[in-house]
Amino acid sequence: MPAASGHSDDGANSQGSNERSDVRNDQRNGQARNGAPADRKPMVRAIGIVNRFGAQVVHDHLDMEVVENEVFGIVGGSGTGKSVLLRTILGLQRPQEGSIRLEGRDITKLSESELRTVKARYGVTFQQGALFTSLTVIQNVQLPMIEHVKLTPRMRDELAMLKIRLVGLPAEAAQKYPSQLSGGMIKRAALARALALDPRLLFLDEPTSGLDPISAASFDELMMELQSQLKLTVVMITHDLDTIFRTCNRVGVIVDKKMQTDTLEGIVQHEHPWIRAYFHGERASARGPGRAEHGESR
Ligand SMILES: Nc1ncnc2c1ncn2[C@@H]1O[C@H](COP(=O)(O)OP(=O)(O)O)[C@@H](O)[C@H]1O
Ligand SMILES: [Mg+2]
Repeated sequence: MPAASGHSDDGANSQGSNERSDVRNDQRNGQARNGAPADRKPMVRAIGIVNRFGAQVVHDHLDMEVVENEVFGIVGGSGTGKSVLLRTILGLQRPQEGSIRLEGRDITKLSESELRTVKARYGVTFQQGALFTSLTVIQNVQLPMIEHVKLTPRMRDELAMLKIRLVGLPAEAAQKYPSQLSGGMIKRAALARALALDPRLLFLDEPTSGLDPISAASFDELMMELQSQLKLTVVMITHDLDTIFRTCNRVGVIVDKKMQTDTLEGIVQHEHPWIRAYFHGERASARGPGRAEHGESR
């Protein structure tokens, strides 16, 4: 059952009878919106997004919805536009068509100064350049504070140290430069910076890429602990199957320039050839069976 992506009430990309039968299924399951629990508030909505670079079409009327308190995984082959989608959602890049709603607010219509206020409400770790290499960890964590809120240097120090401890880094890491840290510590420091302004919404682009499996697992654990304690909504781009199965409630896969979304259990059974190959390929089999059962339940 391919998940109808054209579910938007804005009339974008409606899919007729396919959509109606999905709604019936959703009602029977007490769920709606591609496996999202019906009673949860939408935090992120991308509606009919088109992104092009010259003649290259990256997204062709892509829809996505993330609801409150879930960990939503974004998956897709290399170059399918995962990072471009993230930049679009964050308001760093305007789509050629479509709109983005963050907590109900259409950010594609905001002025630069209005957008600045919205940007302070979410945390993000980027795939490239997680930290400024010329700044220490504590200076990195303080950057969003300096940019967006008025605090005394002392309060900034205390707050930043709190965030550094929160992500499980030792206090002495604060005065170190990124080049003096392990890969896992850099990812944690980037997470501390993303949490600097107490966001409810956290975006992570390939947070565990380049880490060994043990460091990756421990980052996932940290992320899930923070997610439940701070009641975060997390949108995570990842190609790491272990991470997906450990952490995600729902998954959106970019295929054919659109997004197919379902619960973890649902997406594993999706019939699209790329999605099948991804979840049932060699890498997936090597992980062994029986990991997809927790889905919505955690
Ligand atoms: N600023 C840009 N100018 C031109 N092409 C771009 C730009 N940013 C991304 N692209 C292209 O868009 C496609 C998607 O890129 P990206 O979102 O980085 O992929 P990924 O899914 O691997 O994160 C790629 O083909 C990339 O070359
Ligand atoms: Mg990318």
